[in-house]
Amino acid sequence: MPAAKLLDSPAPPSRTKRTPPAMSQLELFENNPPSTTGAILDIKGETSNFVDNMRLPVHRWFRYSAGFSAEWVKSVLAERTRAPQRVLDPFVGSGTTCLACDETGVPSIGLEAHPFVIRVARAKLGYSADSARFSQLAEQVILDAQQAPTGTSAIPALMTKCFSEESFRSLDALRLAIEKADDSSAETSLLWLALVATLRPASEAGTAPWQYVLPGRRKTIPQDPFLLFRRTIATFAADMNVVSQRATPLARIEQDDARECRTVPEGWATLVITSPPYANNYDYADATRLEMTFLREVTGWGDLQSAVRRHLVRACSQHVPPGAVDMEAIISEPVLAPIREELARVCGQLSVLRMERGGKKTYNNMIACYFHDMARVWRALRRACADGAEVCFVIGDSAPYGVYVPVADWLGRLAVAAGFKDWTFEKLRDRNHKWKNRKHRVPLCEGRLWVRG
Ligand SMILES: C[S@@+](CC[C@H](N)C(=O)[O-])C[C@H]1O[C@@H](n2cnc3c(N)ncnc32)[C@H](O)[C@@H]1O
Repeated sequence: MPAAKLLDSPAPPSRTKRTPPAMSQLELFENNPPSTTGAILDIKGETSNFVDNMRLPVHRWFRYSAGFSAEWVKSVLAERTRAPQRVLDPFVGSGTTCLACDETGVPSIGLEAHPFVIRVARAKLGYSADSARFSQLAEQVILDAQQAPTGTSAIPALMTKCFSEESFRSLDALRLAIEKADDSSAETSLLWLALVATLRPASEAGTAPWQYVLPGRRKTIPQDPFLLFRRTIATFAADMNVVSQRATPLARIEQDDARECRTVPEGWATLVITSPPYANNYDYADATRLEMTFLREVTGWGDLQSAVRRHLVRACSQHVPPGAVDMEAIISEPVLAPIREELARVCGQLSVLRMERGGKKTYNNMIACYFHDMARVWRALRRACADGAEVCFVIGDSAPYGVYVPVADWLGRLAVAAGFKDWTFEKLRDRNHKWKNRKHRVPLCEGRLWVRG
């Protein structure tokens, strides 16, 4: 599941009979008819889930639930044997596409705009570093941290909810020792990654399957941070020895905005494999609040807008609070002409519903800004892609306040307007078809949008 805190978060499995959907998928499409230039196919049964990566060396170093399956990326590459490929992932996240390309010997560029997430991806690409030096450095930082005088600085509020004072002081001593050892080498970047990957296992607060830590829910058995850190180091070192034998470090990861793709040479990519944020109110900034607070990169929720969100595609209502954007002006931007009428209708409905709902969430702004941003992404991709390139977006549709947004259809039409030739959508799975504890009953799906041109 490449993007989460879904508006329709999955219900637990149950044997009880479900209430049938209030509206069929067909009826929904009648309200928002799919384009006649694209095609929507149904090829159920394939996975695009990051959970699979937790069994794979290097991929498993940081649990980034927004990610997709590395094996799936490799299978896409394996199908394209005729011409040499150059792969671009404009939303590379934790680096899955680039790592899979290195394992396949295919050159790749990954772009990421989230300042914490790109550091994770870049550190992972250091898999070919010297594992013996890495392990020695780790022992030294553990020793330095254990011998450092116990800190007395104030503990950030979120940290007090997630860790006992003792655990926090140990982790913080490791942080300071790693900062001191930092020589900009791949080995010291991996020490940093090992520490941030240890934070959630070391937290005494409950952790949701998704990235959130639930400070109110306590774990029963607290674990020693030094022990956990050593285990993480051992896993990293073992994986480095395996993967450095079979992969070629060809990938480049750039801090860049997918709406610009400035760091990608014109016509460079022959294949794009990516998963953009979904239009589903998932807040990528809040998802890393624990790590960024620990690293002193933010002091609280209020910093996330300037530190993180402003760099990202606008896909959550927190990004576009009331008064932050002029929805009507955005919808009238020329780049949105191909979908303007339907977009205006959906955003209009959301503006009305917003005033009737307790949360008063600005889904109207979110949807307008999301498609405006994604239209810019298509233009940037058209410039970055070679003639005849193929583009694959793993994407899902959404229904904020129960108003259906045909995401794949609109994205396909925006791609064609940006100069690509055609598009198809392969449905992988249904979402929101189990009807318990839902905020709305709109059937949704997830799949692959293929664009060619
Ligand atoms: C669904 S995740 C991709 C996960 C990736 N496939 C993986 O396996 O780790 C989408 C990513 O897009 C990033 N992102 C959002 N807006 C962006 C932008 N304007 N430019 C580049 N990256 C952006 C987010 O920070 C997030 O990491």
